[in-house]
Amino acid sequence: MRNGLALKLIAIVFAIAGLVLYVRGGLKNNAPLALTIFCLLVASADQLAAFVKDINIAQIFNVRFWNRADRPPSDIIPTAPRKLSEEEVSDKRKVADKFTDLPGRDSSSFDIIDGVESLRNLPGLEPMIPAYLLDSEFRILDWNEAFSLVFDNTMEGRRGVNVLEWTFFLDNYEEILKTGERDFSNTEKLPYIHREEVHYTSRRYGSFVAEKLALRINGEEGELEGWYVRLQPRFSEPSSNRRLLQDLIIRLRWENIWRDYSLCYDRILTSSHTYRQLLNSIMGESDLIEMKPLLGPRLQILDLGAGTGNLTIKLAQIEAPGITIFAIDKSDMMLDILRRKCSKYIEPSPQRARIIPIKQDITSLNGISSDSVDRVFMNNVLYTLDYPQEAMREAYRVLKPGGLLVLSGPKRDTKLKVLFNQLKRDLKNSGYYESHRKDFEKVEFINTHYLSSRLFRWLVSDVISMGKQAGFMKVASTEKAYAGQAMILAFEKPGSEFDSGSTEEDWV
Ligand SMILES: C[S@@+](CC[C@H](N)C(=O)[O-])C[C@H]1O[C@@H](n2cnc3c(N)ncnc32)[C@H](O)[C@@H]1O
Repeated sequence: MRNGLALKLIAIVFAIAGLVLYVRGGLKNNAPLALTIFCLLVASADQLAAFVKDINIAQIFNVRFWNRADRPPSDIIPTAPRKLSEEEVSDKRKVADKFTDLPGRDSSSFDIIDGVESLRNLPGLEPMIPAYLLDSEFRILDWNEAFSLVFDNTMEGRRGVNVLEWTFFLDNYEEILKTGERDFSNTEKLPYIHREEVHYTSRRYGSFVAEKLALRINGEEGELEGWYVRLQPRFSEPSSNRRLLQDLIIRLRWENIWRDYSLCYDRILTSSHTYRQLLNSIMGESDLIEMKPLLGPRLQILDLGAGTGNLTIKLAQIEAPGITIFAIDKSDMMLDILRRKCSKYIEPSPQRARIIPIKQDITSLNGISSDSVDRVFMNNVLYTLDYPQEAMREAYRVLKPGGLLVLSGPKRDTKLKVLFNQLKRDLKNSGYYESHRKDFEKVEFINTHYLSSRLFRWLVSDVISMGKQAGFMKVASTEKAYAGQAMILAFEKPGSEFDSGSTEEDWV
């Protein structure tokens, strides 16, 4: 700040000196005049920069001076989820086996199909403090964004399972197991509040010691219902506090954007013919993109970033027996709408496809076995992710050989104006424009002001490279979906035992 002011003063002094020399030289010598102009420009650099930024020259002349995608979104938090290798887990399991009285260690996991509905969400009372919630059998129910950030997304995919194996990530896990056995094994004398120190080395914030407080939650009859656990980290690196705060602001902002977006985008898109066409194309039901029959009986399907469930419910409605769709999203609000919309398919029934909503970050599909699913869909999701490459790798891992990943998304030259004009026409044609006007304006505003930092990230070829890097073979693509403003890509995991021998060329 001070340096900036000093530089301005020096520039002004030189500008005046240049002007004096110019006048005294009889206005003939241009060198002092050039010096004056240069120094004035330096002195007013801030104001000039702000002015140029505000007028958005690119928009006025409808030209692009730089590639929007060359500037990566500034709000990306570049740390991939942390995982333990199989050897590490097996070594630590051997240590944990010595603690035979650990609480809840023999309780069964939630059955993801039957138990997930009973999970409760973590009360968002302290969003800035890492916290998680356990049930009475020490099974993980939920956790907050602060926890995910500080602990490298290590809880993803562990919902419903005993917290024991998560402790393997801790630097002092043996001590934690010892204390757990000592203080929690007698179920008649459980503490009301339990305090201990947790040591962890975070990828992004470095090592820290956290004061962990586990608060007992009692039911109406005084019975144990669960535990609310909060951890206050003290980082070895003082700058980590600030970094965490900045990251949290970004994450909580995104959480709120999706929350705010959920209702309005759902109302607009479900009334739009163009959006329905996009869903048809993604499911291989249009001429826009030529794909092998995508859907059939007994498929295990993942809808990643399922949002309010528009694609999920269409998938569930296809007439084929034995289909299960796992609808995964990390926004509570999106999932709440999805649950309501898809309730008929969430209830168990042998006649209908099953939808299983799961709250999870899709960049870690921990909890879903490798080579276990037939189809993965990602409709308008990849562009939103901090680590898209990781989501691709996870999709590849969980797909069976021969399984397909189909995704859609905006491209570098997507023109929002064109898309929104089309959506407006759709609403007018379906008679919903006037009643949905406010929602329409909100959806447009969120896209142009918040989502636009991520919308124009890639060319089709960039996404193809991403897929190939993950191990996929590209089998089909189009850039003409969604009023010509979106791409759809289909990838196959090679190595199918029922591989028809098709090549990339056969498909495109
Ligand atoms: C533009 S919406 C698309 C929703 C849906 N696929 C559809 O077509 O309507 C993007 C969705 O991705 C979800 N999302 C963003 N990042 C995610 C992540 N890391 N893990 C899981 N879901 C995520 C958001 O919550 C949101 O529901």
